[in-house]
Amino acid sequence: MLAVVPPPVTVRVPAKVNLHLACGDLREDGYHDLTTLFQALSLTDEVTVAVAEEPGVEVHGEGAAQVPAGPENLAWKAVRALAAHVGRDPDAPGVRVTINKGIPVAGGMAGGSADAAATLVGLAALWRLEIGRDELSTIAAELGSDVPFVLQGGTALGTGRGEQLVPVLARHTYHWVIALDREGLSTPTVFRELDRLRAEGNPPRIGAVEPVLEALASGDPRQLALLLGNDLQAAAVSLRPGLRRTLRAGVNAGALAGIVSGSGPTCAFLCTDADSAVRVAAELSGAGVCRTVRVAQGPVAGARVVTDDSAR
Ligand code: C5P
Repeated sequence: MLAVVPPPVTVRVPAKVNLHLACGDLREDGYHDLTTLFQALSLTDEVTVAVAEEPGVEVHGEGAAQVPAGPENLAWKAVRALAAHVGRDPDAPGVRVTINKGIPVAGGMAGGSADAAATLVGLAALWRLEIGRDELSTIAAELGSDVPFVLQGGTALGTGRGEQLVPVLARHTYHWVIALDREGLSTPTVFRELDRLRAEGNPPRIGAVEPVLEALASGDPRQLALLLGNDLQAAAVSLRPGLRRTLRAGVNAGALAGIVSGSGPTCAFLCTDADSAVRVAAELSGAGVCRTVRVAQGPVAGARVVTDDSAR
C-alpha cells in the first residue's frame, strides 16, 4: 500500500518591535532580565515545511545570503526540538524547511526567532500533532527569548529573558515606518556593549512600563510616541553611530518618534496614520540614511498557517 504524503504547509509569521525595552543588569547565566512590550508587525516571513527525502533548510528573499542554511539555522533547531519532543528521530526528521525572508536579517526584529516559531506551527500541522499553543510556547522559549512572542503575536508584556508573556489589549492599529540598515548587528554584541557602557558610566535607564500600557490603552499614537524607550538603543548607537542620523531623519520626515528596534540596527518610526506613514517612508528613503524602508502596521497575529487549501 502507498503511504499518503501530507501536502506542504506554509506559515506566515510577523516581525516584532519593542515599544519599551528595559534591560536589567547582566545575570550569572549570561542573560539580562527584561521588562519589554512587544508588538507584532505586518513585516513577515513565510515558511513552508514539507515531507522530503532530502532534508534541510533553504533561505530566499531579503538578506538570504547572510542566513545560515545548515544545522545552525534556528528553524532547523526547531525541527529537531519538536521531533525530539514528540518521539521522532531528530537526526532524521524527513522534512525540508523553505524560508522566504521579508523580515530584515540581524535587524533586531526577531527574524530568526520568527522562522523557528513558524517551523513549530508548520510541523505541528504537517505531522498532525495534538499539541497546544502552551506546549509549543515552552519549546519556543528553549529555542530563543523572542520565539514565544512571535508565535503568539499581538501586543504583549514580556519579562524574564523576554519569554514570559502576558497579552496586552491594544485595540488600535499603529502605523510604522521601518528603516533597514545596510548591515546587521549581532544581538549578543549589543548586549555586551550595554554592559560596557554601564561599567564605564551610568547611561540613563528608561522609565516604568505602566505609563506605556496606559498610552496603549488610550489608542493615541501621539501619547505612545512620547513614551517609546529602549535601553539597548545607546549600545546600538555606540556601535553604529550613523543610526543617530537615521533616527533624526525619520522625525524630520514627519514621524511622531523613532526608536532602535530591539538590538538594532533597524529603526522603527511611529506615525500618526497610514497616509503619514507613506509620506514619511517616501521622504526617508530619499534621505540616504538607510538601505531601504518599509511601511508596516501593528499589532498583527502571530505565526499562523496560510496554506491555500483551495489550490490543492
Ligand atoms: O535568547 P536568544 O538566543 O535570542 O538571545 C541571544 C543573545 O542575546 C543571548 O545569548 C544574550 O547574549 C543576549 N540576551 C540577553 N538577555 C536577554 C535576551 C538575550 O543578554 N534577555
